[in-house]
Amino acid sequence: MLAATAPGKAILFGEHAVVYGRPALAVPVTQVQATATLAPGSNGFWIDAPDLGRRYQLDTSDPGDPLAAAVALVAERAGGQPLPPAVLRVTSTIPIASGLGSGAAVATAVVRVLDAWLHLGLEPADISALVFETEKLLHGTPSGIDNTVIAFGQPVHFIKGHPPEPIHPARPFQLLIGDTGRPSPTKVTVGDVRAAFERDPERLSRLFDEIGAIAAGARREIESGQPEALGPLMTQNHALLRELGVSSVELDALVDRACAAGAGGAKLSGGGRGGNMLALVDDDSMGPVKGALLAAGALRVIATRVE
Ligand code: MEV
Repeated sequence: MLAATAPGKAILFGEHAVVYGRPALAVPVTQVQATATLAPGSNGFWIDAPDLGRRYQLDTSDPGDPLAAAVALVAERAGGQPLPPAVLRVTSTIPIASGLGSGAAVATAVVRVLDAWLHLGLEPADISALVFETEKLLHGTPSGIDNTVIAFGQPVHFIKGHPPEPIHPARPFQLLIGDTGRPSPTKVTVGDVRAAFERDPERLSRLFDEIGAIAAGARREIESGQPEALGPLMTQNHALLRELGVSSVELDALVDRACAAGAGGAKLSGGGRGGNMLALVDDDSMGPVKGALLAAGALRVIATRVE
């Protein structure tokens, strides 16, 4: 049996504005992951997704199904021959619709295991491009940041349509990721921001510019070894995301409580309205901030180190 994994991701700065060409920064989150295994079968190609309560044959799958689309894209890449009989099993510890990239991670794990099975020798950029096609089915107009950070597996500076630039933090820093427990599909928030942009392009463009400038400044702080400077930038980015209309009562409460408990700064991460938020912490504030997030209703809190 073959197996492959892919990490979750967190957007550090620039979500939503990145869809409109502004820069954004994202990091892999290895504490959660998607796993795909492939075992030889006897009767067609089956996809088994127990977390979704689904088991179905590739030939009879829904054309919009992102897992089947990932398989079909790799099969096409392999020359378009029918795939040998097998069972592809997909599991994930990444909560769905939570801003941590579950869709892109699952598709990346699928592409990786098929790549190993079919001996294609795909590079991270190839994997990212294939997963981007499945992201379009899930999200409509994705920027491509999720598939990029997950397929490359390292912190990236990303501008839509450009090759990603890896970021190398001069000093490591620590984040807590707090889950509101409220699922919020990215497709919905991206669509709402699109509608707001169409109503008032000037105001939204100004907000996107401010968010993009924060992301660019944050990259400089990370690369020059001043990660503590990220805190205020995170809180400013959160305020702009609120103005975009993608925060929520729960996200604002977690952000406020994290800052009150000693976080350097905090913001929602990903599509927003629910899902996860990030707080910048150090060794001293980690415990109190984690306690404050749980007391304020976070379903779970993950600690991750960016290096
Ligand atoms: C989702 O992780 C980030 C968004 O900016 C959407 C995208 O970039 O495709 C909200």
